[in-house]
This record gives sequence, C-alpha cells and structure tokens, in this order.
Amino acid sequence: MRRVNVPLAGRSYSIYAGQGLLARLGEHCRRLRLGERCAVLTDRNVEPLYAGRALDALRAAGFDPLLVTVPAGEGAKHLKVVAQCYDQLAAHRLERRSFVVALGGGVVGDLAGFVAATFLRGIDFVQVPTTLLAQVDSSVGGKVGVNLRAGKNLVGAFHQPRVVLCDLDTLASLPDREYRAGLAEVIKYGIIRDARLFGLLERRMPGLLRREPALLSDVVVRCCRIKADVVGADETEGGVRAILNFGHTLGHALEAVSRYGRYLHGEAISIGQVLAARLSSENLGLPHREASRIVRLFEAAGLPVEVRLNRSQRRALVDAMRHDKKVSGGVVKFVLAPRLGEARYGIALATEQVERAIAEAGKVASWRR
Ligand code: NAD
Ligand code: GLY
Repeated sequence: MRRVNVPLAGRSYSIYAGQGLLARLGEHCRRLRLGERCAVLTDRNVEPLYAGRALDALRAAGFDPLLVTVPAGEGAKHLKVVAQCYDQLAAHRLERRSFVVALGGGVVGDLAGFVAATFLRGIDFVQVPTTLLAQVDSSVGGKVGVNLRAGKNLVGAFHQPRVVLCDLDTLASLPDREYRAGLAEVIKYGIIRDARLFGLLERRMPGLLRREPALLSDVVVRCCRIKADVVGADETEGGVRAILNFGHTLGHALEAVSRYGRYLHGEAISIGQVLAARLSSENLGLPHREASRIVRLFEAAGLPVEVRLNRSQRRALVDAMRHDKKVSGGVVKFVLAPRLGEARYGIALATEQVERAIAEAGKVASWRR
C-alpha cells in the first residue's frame, strides 16, 4: 500500500493506493474517529460487485451502515437524485458526526460528495473510487456537484474527503471502454505537468492496457501526487488548479450537446485535449512534433481524437462552451500547453479561432505525422 498526502492544513488527508483496501475500509474510518452511523452510496453496477465487502468491513469495525443505491451513469448527477438520497439519510437518522462513503466512479463520488457537503450543512465523507478515472482524478481535491440541463457540474461545492482509498483490485472488473476513458485523465497529467510520465506512457501503453499491476500502481500514485500537489497549492481554483481542466472546455461542451449520451467523460476530454494541443501549437508554439505525440498517445490508448460536426452542431458546441464555469465576462478561457509537461491557464481566444479549430477537428489524421 502506498500513501500520498493532500496538504490542506486542517483539512489535509491521505490517499492510499494498493490491493485489498476495501476490506480495510472500516479500520480507516475507525482511525479517523468517524461517527457510528453512516451511508454507503453506490450505483447499480458497483453494488453487486463491491457493496457487500464495504458493508462487512464497516460492520466489523463497529459502524452501522445504510446502503443507498442510485442508477449508474451521468444521469444520476441530478438534483432529483440528491433529494432521494437526503430522504434516505434522514430516514436512517444520520447525524452531524455521521459520514457518507462514496463507493464507485466519478459520478458516485461527485454525487455522494455533494450530498455530504449539504446534508445537515455538511457531514464527513470518504472516497472509495472504483474506476481509473476516479482513482487518478475525481476522488481527490474536493470538487463535488451535479449537472443542470444548462451544463455540467453547474451546482456544487468544495468538500474534501477525510480519506481516499484506491483499491486497485476493483479495477479488474472495469469494462475496457471505461478503463480507457480513465487513461484520458492519466495522459492529461503527462501533458500538463510531467513530461517523463508522458514518455513512460508512450513506452508502456500496451502493458497499461493489460492492467499490469505494478505499472498500474505506479501510474495511479504518480497521478495522485500531481493532483495532490496542484490542489495543495490552490484548493478552490483561484489560479493554478485551472491547469487540470486542460481539454475540458471543449470536452464538457461535447458531453452537453450530445446530452451526456454519446461520449464518456474521458472520451470527450480526449477529443478536447487534441483540440487544445492544436490551439497550443497555434498560440503558444507547442512544437508540431509534440502535438503529434499527443495525438498518437491518445490513439494508442484507444481513445477518440476526432469529431466531425456540421455547421449548426459547431455553433451549438461553441454556445455550450459559453456556459462553462470557466467563462468570465462572456470570454471563454483555455488551458494550453507551450511544451509537453507544462501548461498555462486563463488564455482567452477569439470565438472565430475556436470555431475554425473545431471545424478542422475532423481532420486530425492529416496532422498526426
Ligand atoms: P462513472 O462513475 O459513471 O463510472 C463508469 C461506469 O463504470 C459506470 O457504469 C459504473 O457503474 C461502472 N463502474 C464503476 N466502477 C466499476 C468497477 N470497478 N467495475 C465495473 N464497473 C464499474 O464514470 P467515471 O468515468 O468514473 O466518472 C465520470 C464522472 O466524474 C463525470 O461525471 C465527471 O464530471 C466526473 N469528474 C469529476 C472530477 C472532480 O474533480 N470531481 C474530475 C473528473 C471527472
Ligand atoms: N478535475 C479538475 C479538478 O479537480 O480541478
């Protein structure tokens, strides 16, 4: 088991990554002196796989857990589902010292965290991420929330978990498509912060796709270190934390215009990062060779890099970008990379330039080499 610290003064916490961690959930909660009554919030896919083990571990450590199961998928990040969760927590008489365990992917983590942030004006929560994406990204850093029809994550809070337990064994049951979607966030860390990680991913992608345990553990820990470092420097995204949104402005817009149905989050930000690489070459001089390496790495991970849209779809996409949380004074701000391993944030681009880049996003193959 390896440990990464998220340095946030009084709200600091540990991320543990290793095998068999689910069985030790109760022990970790006990060590944190969390209240006896709690809720394990999970989704319909994860429940039959891991909820029993989580409940057993909590009961063995003297806790009284309630199981709350929500539908699987992005649709669960909805205020209606939040209200249903509140009702169940209230019926189980959760109190101020009680806590919520988020057992699942990023959807469950964001939803459970939001429920915990707001129920009784805020109770503790513990993250037990079971997707690669959640282990390397969404379970760390305290961004929690749900979607509105107008856009993704438009209602939310910053609410840090008390501990994050990344049980690498749970990744064995993850469908291939979901696993690859998680690799989009892994590649992101290489682009924005760690050129050596990017190089490792280029060399070892076949092993990573086979989920080789030692490699996977190494990669998860390296990503968590980067995220912990960035969040420790800027918890509430006043500045540098924005670099974690590389590729997300277009990615979130793609998810919204396709009504969260066509693309997984990781797939949408794969396309978004390829577009951001193109805009980085045009605006910050990212060498063409490095932009090509970025495209090739997403392709090697089996992720989409192109999107073909007609004129009205492009308009809808640019419109959706204007609804992004990162918009300020009506101007869409981008995160771009001047070179591999470094990112700059807050870059305003003319709408026409973005529209043109989107129009050319269906021809990525032509600038891959
Ligand atoms: P997800 O939570 O929908 O999980 C993907 C699918 O895998 C679901 O069907 C789920 O039921 C299933 N699943 C989960 N664990 C499994 C396992 N071990 N075995 C088999 N099936 C399993 O999606 P995700 O990709 O984990 O997360 C995406 C969400 O995370 C999006 O809503 C995104 O906005 C959010 N996100 C949040 C942050 C943040 O900082 N809070 C960062 C990145 C992404
Ligand atoms: N995933 C973006 C962030 O946590 O800030």
